[in-house]
Amino acid sequence: MDRVCTFGRFLSRASTQIMSKKVIVTGGAGFIGAHTVVELGAEGYVPVIVDNFSNTEEGVIDGLEKIMGSRPIVYKHDCADEQAMTKVFENEKPFAVIHFAAYKAVGESVQQPLKYYENNLCSLINMLKLMVRYDVHHLVFSSSATVYSQPERLPVDENSPLLEATSPYGYTKQVCERIVRDTLRANAQMGAALLRYFNPIGAHESAHIGELPYGVPNNLVPFITQTAIGLREQLTIFGNDYNTPDGTCIRDYIHVTDLAKAHVKALNWLDNNPSRCEAFNLGQGVGNSVLEVVKTFEHVTGQKLNYVIGNRREGDVEQVWADATKANQVLGWKTELSLEKALEDAWRWEQRLASSRS
Ligand code: UFG
Repeated sequence: MDRVCTFGRFLSRASTQIMSKKVIVTGGAGFIGAHTVVELGAEGYVPVIVDNFSNTEEGVIDGLEKIMGSRPIVYKHDCADEQAMTKVFENEKPFAVIHFAAYKAVGESVQQPLKYYENNLCSLINMLKLMVRYDVHHLVFSSSATVYSQPERLPVDENSPLLEATSPYGYTKQVCERIVRDTLRANAQMGAALLRYFNPIGAHESAHIGELPYGVPNNLVPFITQTAIGLREQLTIFGNDYNTPDGTCIRDYIHVTDLAKAHVKALNWLDNNPSRCEAFNLGQGVGNSVLEVVKTFEHVTGQKLNYVIGNRREGDVEQVWADATKANQVLGWKTELSLEKALEDAWRWEQRLASSRS
């Protein structure tokens, strides 16, 4: 078995684990997954990470150990592997599943749609099959604001129609939400929270975990921090001729720690409200333009950023930000960390990465 955790640690904590609720976290070594593992541990849940490490590094587990004070349980498996996952369900007897594992690069999904359809759909289907088989009733699913495309009204709430997806990645999120809803309709004891993330940024305050983009980052904030540290020559702002106050696109940026905490709130809500299925927007409820993010980064870090204005990026929506009232009211969750704090933390993480790699 590909179990990475140390047996000694497992034994020494065995009694606590019997008392505690285990949560399988697929993609738990990824950016949002790892931050969620920290928050689960802090709330007394026992996270069980399942990750194939195809888009992250095993060093993340060392970072988690430093933050959490003990090494989390880790299985190096592909969660679409039914045989391997069967053993995980049998060994761990989870109370819930948080399913992050998925490919997430919008542009790559246009180039390689089948890779996205196969991975993102099959892994979810496998997890649902096992949840049904082992009577695991609570699912938190990692969805995305991309399900809305360019909404007609802003801020966008959960009742807004899901417009035609602009990428295969976006379509996988729409289809996965549907797969969850259909599965729950046929399995009355199951419940799910479909969490629609806006733009997660930042890093853990300790700088022990953060974003680890492979190659050239697609997303704005890692591109900014890599430019500031000298890994990239300059940032290109994709278009300044949009119908927005400064002409650049507007997004709702949310600190990854705030986002992670919402997963714990969602689990608590599912535990108290069995058999429910609801979608929740997770954002600050505030839109910031690309230029505002760049200027804020410069202001809070004192770094001058080398940037140019380039062409629009294909597939970008002009502006989107969340109405997160439902998550505030139903889950009792609200964001606590500012854009400034997220950019400071992202910068501290980038600096730590640079020093650990030099
Ligand atoms: N941007 C730049 N230059 C860059 C990178 C990004 O100007 O080098 C701009 C983009 O054009 C966009 C904004 O910064 O206006 C944010 O872009 P990101 O790539 O960081 O994020 P997106 O809003 O495109 O996408 C993110 C996630 C998706 C998710 C989507 C939901 O990456 O997974 O939010 O809205 F689906």
